[in-house]
Amino acid sequence: MNKIRAALSGIHGWVPEYKLTNQELEKMVDTTDEWILARTGIKTRHILKGKEQGTSVIGTEAVKGLLEKTGTKPEEVDMLICATVTPDMLFPATANIISHNCGITNAFSFDMNAACSGLLYALVTASKFIESGTHKKVVVVGADKMSSIVDYTDRTTCIIFGDGGGAFLLEPTTEDVGIMDSIMHTNGSGMTHLHQKAGGSRKPPTHETIDAREHYVYQEGQAVFKFAVTNMADVAVAIMKKNGLGPDDISWLVPHQANMRIIDATARRMGIAKEQVMINIERYGNTTSGTLPLCVWEWENKLHKGDNIVLAAFGGGFTWGSIWLKWAYDPK
Ligand code: UT7
Repeated sequence: MNKIRAALSGIHGWVPEYKLTNQELEKMVDTTDEWILARTGIKTRHILKGKEQGTSVIGTEAVKGLLEKTGTKPEEVDMLICATVTPDMLFPATANIISHNCGITNAFSFDMNAACSGLLYALVTASKFIESGTHKKVVVVGADKMSSIVDYTDRTTCIIFGDGGGAFLLEPTTEDVGIMDSIMHTNGSGMTHLHQKAGGSRKPPTHETIDAREHYVYQEGQAVFKFAVTNMADVAVAIMKKNGLGPDDISWLVPHQANMRIIDATARRMGIAKEQVMINIERYGNTTSGTLPLCVWEWENKLHKGDNIVLAAFGGGFTWGSIWLKWAYDPK
């Protein structure tokens, strides 16, 4: 019998309506549209407004849309993983809230925290449950409400991040499509350069931590940039080499959308043209776990069965990795 693989059989994305422009940021911090565009490639990012609106709002919209467009009944889903660094609450898992909101009652669900590589970690984990034959319909959500942990007085971070996300459906197939291979990495020493100082068990919230603005993203941009640009390109090239894939074999690169310069460097190292790279950073900024599904969602109608796609990401942790997959269906 042919090997069982995990096919990505559906994708749906969602972003909130409100658009935060570079022009608006110019009024909030000492920055310019020119600087932001030149250094990051970002023009706008979407922000989830309103009281008590957490990441589950994004995840719920994405999953509801996914179930509807794939004709999947909520009770058929047997597992749901939500990749996020901005859970609604420290517990319970945002995955459980999304499942509840969507009427998914026969699944076990949990969150995965691997920052900007979260979606890759979640896809790889989900694929193992499918490949083992124990699970048949798995939903993988990547969603973040980064505006909830961004300091809008810090010009070095507030220009980068946005809110949004998307959800994939994974199903078993014995055809030659689906998740073919992956390479995943972690290096915990990266914590120094990118983290949130307070709010966890090491430094629970106090008046002092709030006054010191320690509940926001802390990033040493240049240091992270150096790690990201090298490792994301290396791991994308590594998965090609490992599987004997040349630039001509690759239909699409789906890169994490952190910085246009990192995306360009990765494509250059892989030897592929810019036309083969999914890029929407200019409209959404860095939505952390949301960037990869938002790209695939927007490019879905251009994808054909058998297309070789490389997903690559680098993020806080440090975490990084790449997935080689063969797309499972033609445009509908
Ligand atoms: O997704 C998770 C992983 N994260 C990443 O991959 C992010 C990686 N890092 C980056 O993308 C870039 O480092 C940033 C976009 C965050 C910053 O770009 P950079 O080219 O590394 O700038 P820099 O930090 O070296 O700063 C250059 C200058 C500094 O001024 P001085 O010291 O040269 O006078 C900054 O203070 O630009 C200044 N600067 C700004 N100027 C205008 C920093 N932020 C801004 C700003 N507007 N928003």
